Amino acid sequence: MLPTIRRFPQVESTQDTARMLLDVEHVNVGHIVMADSQTGGRGRYGRSWLSPYGGLYATLILKPRPLISIASGLAVSRALDGFDVHALLKWPNDIEHEGRKLGGILVERTGEVALVGIGVNLDGEPLSSATSTRRAGANVRRGDLLLAIWQHLEGGEPGEDLLASYRKRSATLGRRVRVTVEHQRIIEGLAIDVDEAGRLLVDVGDHIEETSSGSCEHIG
Ligand code: BTN
Repeated sequence: MLPTIRRFPQVESTQDTARMLLDVEHVNVGHIVMADSQTGGRGRYGRSWLSPYGGLYATLILKPRPLISIASGLAVSRALDGFDVHALLKWPNDIEHEGRKLGGILVERTGEVALVGIGVNLDGEPLSSATSTRRAGANVRRGDLLLAIWQHLEGGEPGEDLLASYRKRSATLGRRVRVTVEHQRIIEGLAIDVDEAGRLLVDVGDHIEETSSGSCEHIG
């Protein structure tokens, strides 16, 4: 099924525009809200997401499903493969290219749907800690990338072991990590696996810690 794409020149956040369209126009799963720029783009953990002209900013309205956050990261990195940009995933779903952030995903639930917000730096000048597809040497057309992401996410690969595919693209497994979880609790150790619920398992020396959410930093 092809998505219905609603494109706006500028919005505060495509996540909020999607919520508004769900409420006011009763749009449903299968819609994508896309903007040329955002004035109040949101990242995970209340961070802001700089969204100047020249990036991909889109919210996919999907039916909720298990591991949607993992599946979304996988879909974005697979879609980028099609442009010869081989990105890895920092747990849970940051898109990284050569250790720099290329994109991010914010998954929110509202009513009966999941809002999968995807931001990818394409042509703009990214922050020094970040990168873009242009910097990675690729000329990526936003619409083509968006459609490829949709196809990977909604078409899927029948019978595929999602976690096995995710693990192969993980930039985190096998690295030392510092994960800041709720209430500023910090887990530091070796990232050893991602389990069937999408939790990161960290060997902290004398036991294994598992966390389903958190901001992850690679420290070794
Ligand atoms: C992160 O890495 O913290 C997630 C960033 C998600 C950014 C995208 S851009 C499209 C959508 N609208 C938003 O306000 N945020 C997401």
